[in-house]
Parts: sequence; C-alpha cells; structure tokens
Amino acid sequence: MSSTAPRRPPIVAIDGPAGAGKSTVAKRLAEALGFVLVDTGALYRAVALAALRAGVARQDAEAVSTLARSLVERRAIAFERDATRGLRVRLDGEDVTDAIRAPDVGMGASTVSAYKGVRDALLDLQRQAGHQGGVVLEGRDIGTVVFPDADVKFFLTARIEVRAQRRFDELTAAGSKTTLDETLADLKRRDEQDTSRAIAPLRQAPDAVLVDSSDLAADDAVARMAAEVRSKAAERAQ
Ligand code: DC
Repeated sequence: MSSTAPRRPPIVAIDGPAGAGKSTVAKRLAEALGFVLVDTGALYRAVALAALRAGVARQDAEAVSTLARSLVERRAIAFERDATRGLRVRLDGEDVTDAIRAPDVGMGASTVSAYKGVRDALLDLQRQAGHQGGVVLEGRDIGTVVFPDADVKFFLTARIEVRAQRRFDELTAAGSKTTLDETLADLKRRDEQDTSRAIAPLRQAPDAVLVDSSDLAADDAVARMAAEVRSKAAERAQ
C-alpha cells in the first residue's frame, strides 16, 4: 500500500452468505487480532424485530424505513461489550441478543435489508462503528459498500449443504425444533433474497480474498485470515 495510507489500525471486512461460519470466524479473528467485532447483520435483525414488535408489516418498505430511521436517530440500537458473554445487542435498552437469532427474525432481516431506506439508515451507524480501525466488520456489503476501502477484505463461503448443516446444528443446540430440510430451504430463500436485491446485493468484492470454509475448521480459517491481516498491516507500515 502507498505511503499515504492512513496510520490507523486496519479495517477488516468479512462478507459472505448465511451459514458460512462468518459469526464464529469473525469473532475469533477479532479476538486473535485484539480488534473490535461489529456484527452488522445484528442491526438488520434488530430493525426486523422492532418492526415485528411494533406491528409494522415487514413488506411495508416505507413504514419499515421510517421505523429504522427513527431507531437510529433515537440511538435505540446499541452494541455492548460484555466481558463474559461477548458482544450484546440492545434494542431500546433491552438485551435482544438471543431474540434476534430466531429464524423468523432472520427472514425478516433479509426482507427489510432489501429496502433502500433501511440500508441508508444503517450505513452511517456502521461507518461510525468502524472508521477508527482495529475492527472486524461482518456482513454482506462491507467490502463493497460500507467500507469499499477496507484494508483487508474476505469473502467467506461454503457449499450450501455444509452451510445448512451448520445452521441446523446451531438452531438445534439453541432448542429450535426445525428440520434440516427446512433449514436448507430457508437458506436457499435467503441466498436468493440477499443476492438478487437491487441495492447492495451480496457479492464478492473484486479485491476480496475468497475463503471456502466447506472443508476447513473454523480455527484454520481464522489462522489463515489472521496471517493475511498481519501481512497487509506489515505492508502498510512500510
Ligand atoms: O448475517 P445475518 O444472518 O445476521 O444477517 C441477517 C440479514 O441481514 C441477512 O439476510 C442479510 C442482511 N444483511 C445485509 O443485508 N447486510 C449486512 N451488512 C448484514 C446483513
């Protein structure tokens, strides 16, 4: 990188489809590097949950966008770092970290994240959270839209059957009664929604490093990615 590169610590972007292991890998990568983790999907999930609770139909783009703007203006969505339980998400003061993981909230997040009003409302929030560097941001459009100049970009993916199995295991462990077939169908729908939407669709940035985690343990993926970040950071320092 050129000598005019800013001296702040690196901004690391991780994008990829649902169930690729992004949350686990991003969390461990942030820990390995001593960086702050920003789970941007949680913001879309919080908007979806808020809409559900307020009785706002998720199909109503206008109403959901107005709600998202109001949540951001009121600073109603907040991240909190808990020493033992990691990153927590609050909605109007309530800890909704677990509530936003429900499958219907995930589907809702996928729907509302297609609205321009919602994306615009959450954009500044994400940039504020990351601009000082020393962060790992995980999402769908971090390397393409939120931080197109991120210092290191990863596109983390895996075969859909592998992603479905992982998501199913997670949901089952959390007490959900879903089936593998349902989980697979759900993932396919979300992939379709996330990649075909008009604004900020899920796609790999041209300069992103592709990491296929299908046959890779999370720790191996993390080790590979941490090495990449350190090598980029060393290049920048020269
Ligand atoms: O990563 P996740 O499953 O928590 O994300 C929930 C939804 O939010 C996902 O279906 C797409 C959307 N999302 C997005 O559009 N852009 C992001 N940067 C992060 C998530």
